[in-house]
Amino acid sequence: MNNKKHDAICKNFPYMLHGGDYNPDQWLEFPEIINEDMRLIPLAHCNVMSINIFAWSTLEPKEGEYDFSYLDNIMDRLDKIGAKAILATPSGARPGWMSKNHPEVLRVDETRHRNLHGARHNHCYTSPYYRKKVYEMNKKLAERYKNHPALILWHISNEYGGECHCELCQKAFREFLKEKYNNNLDKLNNAYWSKFWSHTYTDWEEIESPSPRGEMAVHALNLDWKRFVTHQTMEFIKNEIKPIKEITPDIPATTNLMGSYRGLDYFKIKDVIDVISWDNYPRWHNGDNVSVGCHTAFMHDLNRSLKNKPFLLMESAPSLTNWQDFNKLKRPGMHMLSSMQAVAHGSDSVQYFQWRKSRGSAEKFHGAVVDHCGHENTRVFKEVAEVGKNLEKLDDIVGTYTKSETAIIFDWENRWAINDMQAMAKETKKIDETCENHYKTFWKKGINVDIIDSDCNFDNYKLIIAPMLYMIKPGVTEKIEKFVKNGGTIVATYATGWVDENDLCFLGGVPGGILKDVFGIWSEEIDTLFPHDFNIVKLDNVKEYKAVDYCEIIHPSTAKTLGTYSKDFYKDMSAITLNEYGKGKAYYIAFRDTGEFLSDFYENIINDLNIEKSLEISLPYGVTAHSREDESYKYIFIENYNDTPQEIVFDKEYQNVLTGKKIYGNITIDEYGSIILKVKK
Ligand code: GLA
Ligand code: ZN
Repeated sequence: MNNKKHDAICKNFPYMLHGGDYNPDQWLEFPEIINEDMRLIPLAHCNVMSINIFAWSTLEPKEGEYDFSYLDNIMDRLDKIGAKAILATPSGARPGWMSKNHPEVLRVDETRHRNLHGARHNHCYTSPYYRKKVYEMNKKLAERYKNHPALILWHISNEYGGECHCELCQKAFREFLKEKYNNNLDKLNNAYWSKFWSHTYTDWEEIESPSPRGEMAVHALNLDWKRFVTHQTMEFIKNEIKPIKEITPDIPATTNLMGSYRGLDYFKIKDVIDVISWDNYPRWHNGDNVSVGCHTAFMHDLNRSLKNKPFLLMESAPSLTNWQDFNKLKRPGMHMLSSMQAVAHGSDSVQYFQWRKSRGSAEKFHGAVVDHCGHENTRVFKEVAEVGKNLEKLDDIVGTYTKSETAIIFDWENRWAINDMQAMAKETKKIDETCENHYKTFWKKGINVDIIDSDCNFDNYKLIIAPMLYMIKPGVTEKIEKFVKNGGTIVATYATGWVDENDLCFLGGVPGGILKDVFGIWSEEIDTLFPHDFNIVKLDNVKEYKAVDYCEIIHPSTAKTLGTYSKDFYKDMSAITLNEYGKGKAYYIAFRDTGEFLSDFYENIINDLNIEKSLEISLPYGVTAHSREDESYKYIFIENYNDTPQEIVFDKEYQNVLTGKKIYGNITIDEYGSIILKVKK
């Protein structure tokens, strides 16, 4: 936990950022359009544009021939209208000549076929040529704009993702493994349990990345490959950032992340960038905005927790997207609500993809601040300008911190391993959804939660929730033990502590090692239910809850049974236990519920541990509150995800940050309404 206001992300521009991805390179034949952009940006109350993303072919039209004139012009013009630039490196896509002259830059897929030129993010992270070109390009950009008054932040590439299986990458993978296993192939074979199906490696050269045409059955290899992909992407990012840091050490660098994207361990990626930013595209208006709101909040909290600091919302749709199965318009009000939600959870910006709709190609119908009609008299433009006006009143919130007493463990390696595991059910493992289900009660009650991985520090929390923590990385059992012994409360579930970091099963019973003592149970079997099956769990022989998907069969040693199964061959056996351990408590929930149990269960824990709510009043369904604070003030964001107005009764006086008025007693919050309050601590 941090309890001091942070410096603004951009020290040379300490305001809420509002703007979007802007591609003037697509409009160079239309100078009147760019003139219009310069008129419209201030009208939309935007103060920043992310520029130069994917502009490589404009900057280097022929190999070695550079032309920065478009960018010089745009940087100057942004400065002239008082706007700032988040300047991107263009490595997310390449010019055609590069793929033609240097095919090694093209990505090879897992079936070992080299891709053709096209799309984007279609490059090898290892290629020395591509790294060299990226380094040179970034150096030129940094040198050219290092003193430019518009420059406030570097946007490194765009949404890193994917993997390459080319020969260069295979070689780098082998080097990565040699280092990891101290050049000792036996050590690797043991970790990989590779005698299974005679898969023992007899030479490092035999090691290949996982492939549907080759090896997929060695789970530890699959894991190491994923770790390598994260490692290699980080090396690529470091190479991108190096010249930039040398030349502009005071300008921070970010790259836009993709929520909880599985392909890269963001808890590692965070270390090679200065600032977390992410792209958020919720599926609003699909019948249940409350659930969408909760899911989105989880993603914001995850991104804030990566560095435990304010982050930037780098992209969101001002209205609709164009790539989802159904691209519905944001209803009036939703844009304000979803923008304020980001700020509530720690964002110091609201930014869009995209400023202006492109005229052709794949994203011509993706929502934008400026539509093809080209003027400001649109619903979307007006709603964007309203968001901008509100953000201008929130500059005091820049850098404020989020106080959370609860953390949920959401660990990338655990997610990889559990999804690769061949057991339980293919369709219902749902690790991500399970973490979100545990989060829901806290979100509804307006309680701040951090989303951490198992390597994070546990010390400052009262409550740690570890849903399906199947893989226990080195040191984590000890950390859990210490946390509980010192008075912490932990909640774990079925499928806890089955394997170590190599995906090797713990011998001697699960949950592995000392966790059996911490939870005071051991688990013998897990029953995977068909979708139509269920069991009933009885609590104190009074209240009943439905158990679905998974019922673990556990034996308490020192733990007390709080609930039992009421049918099948494990009738009357423990389904929920509590173990008092040291000064703390360890709960084990052996079954998956349908939501009702977790809601009651966490309500009790929240009361027991006296976990702080953002607002100490009860909130109607679908209305929630989240807070940020500095040393003197607490800022409380109240959000209504219902499509009807809701009543709230305030028991003390607050200041409404947006209107400056006092708030007390009965207040109506509009459908999709949000209120921001300020209160002295
Ligand atoms: C991503 C990309 C953008 C754009 C948007 C469309 O977030 O970063 O370039 O393609 O999606 O929603
Ligand atoms: Zn490669």
